[in-house]
Amino acid sequence: MVDLAVKDLRNRLVGNARFRDSAQKIPLIQLLASHQANELFQLCSGFIHSQVLLACVRLELFGRLADGPVDSGSLQAELDLDQEAGERLFAAAAALELLEWRPSGRIALGRLGAALNDNPGVIAMIRHHALLYEDLRRPDALFGGKLDRTRMGELWAYAGDPGASDLDARAVGDYSQLMAVSQAMVAEQILTSFSLRGVRTLLDIGGGAGAFALAAARRWPRLDVSIVDLPQVADIARARVLEAGLERRVDVFGADATADFLPDGFGVVSLVRILHDHGDERSLELLRAAHRALRPGGTLLIAEPMAGDSRAGRLVSAYFNVYLLAMGSGKPRTPAALARLAREAGFRRVRRRRTSVPTIASILLASR
Ligand SMILES: C[S@@+](CC[C@H](N)C(=O)[O-])C[C@H]1O[C@@H](n2cnc3c(N)ncnc32)[C@H](O)[C@@H]1O
Repeated sequence: MVDLAVKDLRNRLVGNARFRDSAQKIPLIQLLASHQANELFQLCSGFIHSQVLLACVRLELFGRLADGPVDSGSLQAELDLDQEAGERLFAAAAALELLEWRPSGRIALGRLGAALNDNPGVIAMIRHHALLYEDLRRPDALFGGKLDRTRMGELWAYAGDPGASDLDARAVGDYSQLMAVSQAMVAEQILTSFSLRGVRTLLDIGGGAGAFALAAARRWPRLDVSIVDLPQVADIARARVLEAGLERRVDVFGADATADFLPDGFGVVSLVRILHDHGDERSLELLRAAHRALRPGGTLLIAEPMAGDSRAGRLVSAYFNVYLLAMGSGKPRTPAALARLAREAGFRRVRRRRTSVPTIASILLASR
């Protein structure tokens, strides 16, 4: 209560222009005010940062600079950029630490640009955001719930669709490809934080094109893996499994996990980037399906970005609240909210596992 009263007082003071003017004459407050002004400016200009990033990705600048600094004039000529406009792009990207100027006057990868090089999952997501920009062109309509159709809803064809198992191959192809490319970084987070030592069988519900299942099978040679996804996605997964030569250890089932009979007796059942796509009712159905598929004492693994009070949790909340709204289904949840749903579905001993990049995935485990 005291905490809330202090926050209300802070808001009244900071929201008062006369108070701000006089407070800024005090040195410590000057420092805090300038920090806050920078934060606000960053919020106001964040859309420009995203567009600079998208331009760098579309021009494949990170790959072009991967072998070292290059002369900026030659790079502009190679990319057919207008000289003045190209310099502005390089200057903005350098300010954002995507690129950096070298004393020789050449241009090189910056700290963040270097981290994006050879990172196809994030690059695919940045390109994919162009769809979300279209839905955000009228934020009043999106947040007013007045858009009948969204580009994101068209891509994620199963979102909010109870007849999702009838989707055709074209409807699931684009999102399955996007998920497969971005899954590598998710699988790395999960398999580093959660050991499958001693586990003989894993069922990956909503396993998409099979990228996580294949990564798990490769990391743990004595593990047999099954994937369940909608029939047309299962066809894509089957082809990937054959390509990987792992068909003896990886089974694929085409089914609606909330409605159809699933195989059971598994040591671990995973739900990777699944529950945040659905409302509570459908998430409960998925959790109950996972519960039935586990052997008694088996482990449920939930891995997805989770909302929360930490910096990562707040970034997840801001991003996924909007992303999933535009998609037309689902919401980001805190670990506590997911734990409540898991208990309601019959799980016990819900516990957290830390990952090193929680914006990519946090982990919750529970026992049947
Ligand atoms: C966001 S994708 C995640 C895919 C994969 N787990 C990953 O992290 O890359 C969600 C997946 O759930 C699948 N899915 C949606 N509804 C489903 C249902 N009712 N039964 C089975 N799979 C479903 C989708 O086809 C899609 O492949």
